[in-house]
Amino acid sequence: MTFDEEINRVGTHSVKWDEMEKLYGVSPKDGIAMWVADMDFRPPACVQKALEEVIAHGIYGYFGDDGDYLAAIQWWMKNRHGWDVEAASIFTTHGLVNGTGLCVQAFSAPGDGVVLMTPVYHAFARVIKAAGRSVVECQMPVVAGRHVMDFDAWDAQMTGTERMLILCSPHNPGGQVWSVEELRGVAAFAKRHDLIVVSDEIHHDLVFPGAKHTVMPLAAPEIADRLVMMTATTKTFNIAGSHIGNVIIPDPVLRAKFAAVVNGLGISPNSFGLFMATAAYSPEGAEWLDALMLYLDENRRVFDEGVNAIPGLKSMPLEATYLAWVDFSGTGMRREEFTDRVQGAAKIAANTGPSFGKGGEDCLRFNIATPRARIVEAVARLKAAFSDLQ
Ligand SMILES: Cc1ncc(COP(=O)(O)O)c(C=O)c1O
Repeated sequence: MTFDEEINRVGTHSVKWDEMEKLYGVSPKDGIAMWVADMDFRPPACVQKALEEVIAHGIYGYFGDDGDYLAAIQWWMKNRHGWDVEAASIFTTHGLVNGTGLCVQAFSAPGDGVVLMTPVYHAFARVIKAAGRSVVECQMPVVAGRHVMDFDAWDAQMTGTERMLILCSPHNPGGQVWSVEELRGVAAFAKRHDLIVVSDEIHHDLVFPGAKHTVMPLAAPEIADRLVMMTATTKTFNIAGSHIGNVIIPDPVLRAKFAAVVNGLGISPNSFGLFMATAAYSPEGAEWLDALMLYLDENRRVFDEGVNAIPGLKSMPLEATYLAWVDFSGTGMRREEFTDRVQGAAKIAANTGPSFGKGGEDCLRFNIATPRARIVEAVARLKAAFSDLQ
């Protein structure tokens, strides 16, 4: 198992590499793709083997009997997160953006407010707005280099029209692993304002040594009647193209509402995603993941050390995720200028901060899940692009 291999993804319908020129003006010929959240690594061999068996059989009919799949999810949640999941509470969606959209439909009505703790994963706002709900941005201040929750300010912001809160746990961008106390703060806030909590935990397996993630159902059992937990194999094992995710709903009333939306849309999962996810949530998958996190830990160290040595740049210390959040405000430059230096001079495609909502204005997000040599090269390019500051 090596993560050092540089695999050419150009011309393979990779959004990350094949659309970066169109979106960021960075050519894949000499540019480095550090934006969308997938990794430049192969998934664990057990996932590849599962697909090869399906392909060798050569029959692609409807999938039946999801017992193995549900058992794999239960095994993973118990072994990695200490959480007993009831099989009946698991819904399979076409990924978690899809899961978010279904939750918005099931638990809110047009015109209702949906609370986001910003800056946060951009697709949440896109889905909320497309469904005719309004995005309520509760901004997180940065204290001691970390995003923090500001419940007093958020209490004052609520108008009574909010119905739902989407929690990103661990947080993207910035990589915070929320403490149990912080999660209980979210639960209390949701109770005060009568909000359904959708806890998107897609990054909860990508936690660095030293940090400890707690799944929301264990952190705050007192909100079981207003909680939806979502997670997936796709980020963890780099199989995002399989578009499969778990929406786990402990409460039977919420479950029935969600089921009504899913059934009304005639949604059923894709068999390839089911085969891949079942193979991934396994002891082999776990071993691969542990090795991955050690590799990413060193990428994180190399990236942060290099970036933080450039005057005016500050990389938020990641406790989880491979998505480094870099604040350029210390350069005193306007957004256009620092962005142009990163994209134009350094030829690096990184996500622009404002797409994550309030609080993202001075930042860019860099995906560090790529072979180490590219991280070293990216740091060198950034140093050169900002060399006049040194
Ligand atoms: C917090 C969060 N949720 C969901 C997704 C995407 O989920 P999916 O590919 O399952 O739709 C991402 C991708 O970066 C993410 O960061």
